[in-house]
Amino acid sequence: MAFTKKTVRDIDVDGKKILMRVDFNVPLKDGVVTDDTRVRAAIPTIKYLKEHNAGIILMSHLGRPKGDGFEPELSLRPAAEKLAELTGYDVKFIEHTYDEEAAEACAAVKPGDILVLENVRFLKAEKKNDPEVAKKFASYADIFVLDAFGTAHRAQGSVVGAAEYIPAVAGFLLEKEVDTLTSIFAEPERPFVAVVGGSKVSSKIGVLENLIESADTLIIGGGMAYTFFLAKGYGVGTSLKEEDWIERAGEMLKKAEEKGCKILLPIDNVVADHFGEDAEGTVVASDAIPDNMMGMDIGPKTIELYCDAVKKAATVFWNGPMGVFEFDQFAKGTEAVARAIGASDCTSIIGGGDSVAAINKFGLADQMSWISTGGGASMELVEGKALPGVEALLDA
Ligand code: 3PG
Repeated sequence: MAFTKKTVRDIDVDGKKILMRVDFNVPLKDGVVTDDTRVRAAIPTIKYLKEHNAGIILMSHLGRPKGDGFEPELSLRPAAEKLAELTGYDVKFIEHTYDEEAAEACAAVKPGDILVLENVRFLKAEKKNDPEVAKKFASYADIFVLDAFGTAHRAQGSVVGAAEYIPAVAGFLLEKEVDTLTSIFAEPERPFVAVVGGSKVSSKIGVLENLIESADTLIIGGGMAYTFFLAKGYGVGTSLKEEDWIERAGEMLKKAEEKGCKILLPIDNVVADHFGEDAEGTVVASDAIPDNMMGMDIGPKTIELYCDAVKKAATVFWNGPMGVFEFDQFAKGTEAVARAIGASDCTSIIGGGDSVAAINKFGLADQMSWISTGGGASMELVEGKALPGVEALLDA
């Protein structure tokens, strides 16, 4: 068991008032929630608390407001309405977070009630973890519950602040996320195959280095592959590249060899003469990318190689697309790898961000063992970092 903190199961919540930080940072279009995954993910804890006779006050951020007050397009009202729709519960919403109205609304919460406060980031002090913000939040309730896994890497007022003043425990989502994303590295069923894509080596350096320590095979795709090509002495044409990271990429290849982690890089690529929806792809070998062409996806031989490695895995961790999957003609690599993971009997852990968007695009969500609700937070965990939100909770 990788989770070492107290959860709502370990504390008496009967008749208590709970301040719960959720991550309702959901995509909105014209005031409507277009992907309710994060709202659904918070429901098990909310349901548990309600069934155990607790009064529930929910708070979250949404987007990145300026912090100078209310911004109508970033109100949490649509998320509160979505929660009511999904649960059938009576969910109250108040357009206040830190003022007297908010305090009065929280004071009026009775066992079984659910109240959602307005976006915590409408106040600048939230991001700075101002002690006044923390004290204010703590004054609203008897117990603090953190279930906002996606925000647990932010040392902000609503995430870590209240934990200094009232007992603080985890919700079920946070527990499951941390447990899943840490235990695959501690004791993966082998072979453990990690698939990492996305545009930059620099943004995933910690993830790559940690995976080299634990994975049997590390598959690399997406734009970051071209920096590895440069480290191997290949030309990459006009492909995405990070000159400053070539040396580090070369060191990683060497380290992987020493550690017995097999790194797979593309052997062929789909290239195009420009980046765009109308661009046409041609397949070329990895050591023969023309000077005027850029890599857009992995090629068919690479797809076969990567899918074969995935098929043999007992555990797969995946983060980051294999190519520019937003354009259909360059989505084949990402789709093929996603389908191979979905079709396999392996334990498949998907580490948030673009890979989740890809899985949803191909309708494969129910074929994966676990899809993380966190982007940055899941990457920090995979890098082996401690999350401030989790650190602030009571030890089990
Ligand atoms: C996310 O969407 O990754 C989380 O909600 C955190 O959001 P932030 O990056 O704006 O802190």
